[in-house]
Amino acid sequence: MYAQMVKTDAARVKSLDEMEPQERAFQERIDAGQKIEPKEWMPEAYRKTLIRQISQHAHSEIVGQLPEGNWITRAPTLERKAILLAKVQDEAGHGLYLYCAAETLGISRDEMYGQLHSGKAKYSSIFNYPTLTWADIGAIGWLVDGAAIMNQVPLQRCSYGPYARAMVRICKEESFHQRQGFDILTVLCKGTPEQKAMAQDALNRWWWPSLMMFGPSDDASVHSAQSMAWNIKQDSNDELRQKFVDQTVPQARFLGLTVPDPDLKWNEEKGGHDFGEPDWTEFFEVIAGNGPCNRERLEARRKAWDDGAWFRDALTVHAEKHAVRKTPAAAA
Ligand SMILES: [Fe+2]
Ligand SMILES: [Fe+2]
Repeated sequence: MYAQMVKTDAARVKSLDEMEPQERAFQERIDAGQKIEPKEWMPEAYRKTLIRQISQHAHSEIVGQLPEGNWITRAPTLERKAILLAKVQDEAGHGLYLYCAAETLGISRDEMYGQLHSGKAKYSSIFNYPTLTWADIGAIGWLVDGAAIMNQVPLQRCSYGPYARAMVRICKEESFHQRQGFDILTVLCKGTPEQKAMAQDALNRWWWPSLMMFGPSDDASVHSAQSMAWNIKQDSNDELRQKFVDQTVPQARFLGLTVPDPDLKWNEEKGGHDFGEPDWTEFFEVIAGNGPCNRERLEARRKAWDDGAWFRDALTVHAEKHAVRKTPAAAA
């Protein structure tokens, strides 16, 4: 992997010969497929890149609960409600594993929340779109969790131990999420014409934002080349997007739904689909904070933080009292 990057990106990623002995030993361990663990030496840039990536991933899991949480009270049956509750709860768990993984790199949980609440840290642009109907919950599970799986499966093999291990469990849960979404849509598509139209409308609105989840084309990006050399990233954004389209189009056909892309067609030669370009202007607008729900999502997170202040305070006071009780002076 690293040798390839040096060939294609020699100007951007340092070669082994240019590295100091410590950094070189680090890179050789990565090239040999070894995991890097929290207390070990690592280049500062590696640490920073991982903090940014893992904390943004954690924020996405937590903010990602909001559009779906919105439907817990309106799920059509008790069974659907129980399933959706479990799914949303899983996302909270994903956020917590990931915050823990980021903490091992020397950033505190409070600092990460601070960055989210101030708007400094980003989260996945997809969660700034509204969930207008029950079919949206199906589309999110099928497409958004589906895209998340595409991104996350390779991360199980990434070089940073705590991140890779967190991903193993997360990926198992994500596949449950995807199936529950597909199941919602299967039922709607076999239902009344109105239900089928609701499913089609959800696909129309979620298709392009889902393709944007892989990020813009990154073949020429310095950042991407370095992340690949460090084995934090294994596939380019375009490769993952292609895989996602090829996996999802037959599923849409199975449901009897139409993917809203006039340029979509099978390309025999490449053994994959050709497809249209997402609207990157919209993507950058959403990232910049101007999506349909950015303000609402951040307000909900800030309010949750403020509403929980009394509980954090109570925990701190309890811990202090407990510590005093344990000292010999207090016992005497
Ligand atoms: Fe998740
Ligand atoms: Fe999920």
